[in-house]
Amino acid sequence: MNLYEESIRIIKKNQTETGSYVASPSFSQYGFCWLRDSSFIAEAMAEAGEYESAGRYFRWVENVLVKNKEAISRTLQKDRSDITLQDFLPTRYTLTGERNNDNWENAQSDGYGTYLWALGKFVEKTDYKINREMVELVCRYLEKVWKHPCYDAWEEEKDALHTSTLISIAAGLKAGAKMLDRETAWKEIKCFIEEECVTEGRLRKSTLNSGVDSSLIWGVCPYKLWEVQTPLVRNTISKIEEDLFFEGGLKRYCEDSYFGGGSWILLSASLALYYQETGQEEKVGLIERWIESQADAEMNLPEQVSEHLLFDDYYEEWLNKWGKIANPLLWSHANYIKLRPYGSN
Ligand code: BGC
Repeated sequence: MNLYEESIRIIKKNQTETGSYVASPSFSQYGFCWLRDSSFIAEAMAEAGEYESAGRYFRWVENVLVKNKEAISRTLQKDRSDITLQDFLPTRYTLTGERNNDNWENAQSDGYGTYLWALGKFVEKTDYKINREMVELVCRYLEKVWKHPCYDAWEEEKDALHTSTLISIAAGLKAGAKMLDRETAWKEIKCFIEEECVTEGRLRKSTLNSGVDSSLIWGVCPYKLWEVQTPLVRNTISKIEEDLFFEGGLKRYCEDSYFGGGSWILLSASLALYYQETGQEEKVGLIERWIESQADAEMNLPEQVSEHLLFDDYYEEWLNKWGKIANPLLWSHANYIKLRPYGSN
């Protein structure tokens, strides 16, 4: 029994028959299928050879999109200047693919980019037939909304354009261009990032925050929008290491107070992926050992680990509000799988 195999088992166990993955089966707030989490999960599962699971998820998304066809068309018909957050597709759905109309903010577009990127990789590996009409619709939707501020990958700060969100959209539209065999706006978005989302030679968190955010790593690992050796990437990673990396565990961003601002497994794994790509094996080992030491007796990996907290005082507050930190979090397992520990695959 090893954590790699157990991670695959835990992900499979928490996928519905129709294909949705639950973000976390036991955490009070995470009983939904997020396009962001799940697309990263499906991509990792496909890399691990679990094609049936990944394919089932992609079909599930297609069905969800079909149900939302009219809503998407309505957004497409609007002038860009008239678009509001109400016109955005939700980031999370119930496990049966319905919208959940609670008051938790939902307008986030990065997950649709991640979805297209993951789907693009999947069709290259398998004989999966895409629903072209839906892929076209999602591409046009992202081309329409990308310049409109929305909540970020952490479901926060609706008034900014978030670099990491733009990165996910660019990666998705790049994959979309290949699947549809047509130009998409991905190059324009990448240029926009390089011009408008850079401070001191590195990427910034958003148009409103000049700090860094660990989700910026996704621009190279796994999306490969830039080469690992470009100065922009190197400077961004250095700043992330300097501000957010603590003995194997990585924080989301400096002002993070969610559960006090612990260290996130899935982000640490993204950084380890970057270290793998740049041949920094010692650092890969440090992170792998740190992640493995966080697994509980059932081999579950949590969302975050409450160490080196950025804001101690907030930990109790979140604990009282939402209960214990999500454990297992499927996305943590997925990003760990991507490291191919024990030389697996
Ligand atoms: C995170 C999101 C994630 C969701 C479900 C939230 O706390 O900020 O990125 O999609 O949990 O895992």
